[in-house]
Amino acid sequence: MNELEEYKKIVHYMLDLHGRGTTDSAEAPYRHPTWTYTDEQLFEIEKERIFFKEPLLVGFSCEMANPGDCFMFQDLENINVLMIRDSEGKAHALLNSSLEAGQVSAGDLNKCGENIQHLPCEEKYGMLYICLDKASAVNIDKHLADLTPWFKQWDLADTQLIGEHVWDLKSNWKLALDTFCEGYHFDILHKDSVGDFSLGNISQYKRFGSPQRHHRMTFPNKPMLDLRGTDDKDWGMEIQTHFQLVHFIYPNVSLLISPTAVEFFVLYPGKKVGEHITRYRSYWRGDINRASWSGGGAKENFDFIVYVVDKEDYWVSANVQKSLNANRRKFSTFGKNEPSLINMHRNFLSAVGLDPDIKEAPDWEDLTGDKSTGPVAA
Ligand SMILES: [Fe+2]
Repeated sequence: MNELEEYKKIVHYMLDLHGRGTTDSAEAPYRHPTWTYTDEQLFEIEKERIFFKEPLLVGFSCEMANPGDCFMFQDLENINVLMIRDSEGKAHALLNSSLEAGQVSAGDLNKCGENIQHLPCEEKYGMLYICLDKASAVNIDKHLADLTPWFKQWDLADTQLIGEHVWDLKSNWKLALDTFCEGYHFDILHKDSVGDFSLGNISQYKRFGSPQRHHRMTFPNKPMLDLRGTDDKDWGMEIQTHFQLVHFIYPNVSLLISPTAVEFFVLYPGKKVGEHITRYRSYWRGDINRASWSGGGAKENFDFIVYVVDKEDYWVSANVQKSLNANRRKFSTFGKNEPSLINMHRNFLSAVGLDPDIKEAPDWEDLTGDKSTGPVAA
């Protein structure tokens, strides 16, 4: 993959969209049933069939750079996974092991105790993946599919953690994810922050994966317009500062890759259907002293993003959830300019065995044959 040529294609595509006064669109609007954000039984089946079955991106290599380094994954209820790098440098995911065991073992897994259970785990391109289903395997290349060349090119192993912020928020995990999937709210909600430099309501939308469950939204920044009419032979790698690549990595990650940083948002169901956890980590790529594409340093960039998400996006998300809990409206309409939301939610419904065009909440008793136990795993 020629990274610069790919970025040139993106700029040409975005300038064309802007010139035509349009954005990538779905074929039709979609009426999305709001019970999907409030139904307790759907919530349980999502945990079983999505979070306990699918490969999950839980972090990046820099978080355990050396043999013996470890960290805990505990973001799903009743789950404790020790991520540890062994004495030969290989990453492992150990179920029900403690951080203390990892620190005692210092990379020698024989010292973690007799009853350690390995979970499927793979590390590639600086990404750490696990799967909570012991019978499954993790294959990052297969999971990323046609996104693989991008991550291979970026190689996110050369990053360092700048900061972490965790939200334990009263909004459903899918509702919180929605905020990362469209750009028309930039001008309104973020008018004094992100909206100040971005071109609102214009985005390139591309689907990736097999099936196509991942997506990438490209959001342009205003200075991109200065490239119009210039010869692209003169364009260099600096053109990647004129847009933002925001990936949705199925099922629960929003990943913004900029020339200087990786903004990793990973979302998990909370204790109840109307609650979730977002773990945000910001990583710097390469030299820690170089300024971000917007001019600030690494810590300033991290603080800015926490502020925007906390005071703007998630403030709205929590208030929308309150209204959904009150069951005041049966549907949210996703417009043609929100293709990513449409595809993402249709995939979530398919993943739990429901028709993506479903409108009314199903009779779970009919689907499971036993209402007392709720939905069962596939
Ligand atoms: Fe936002």
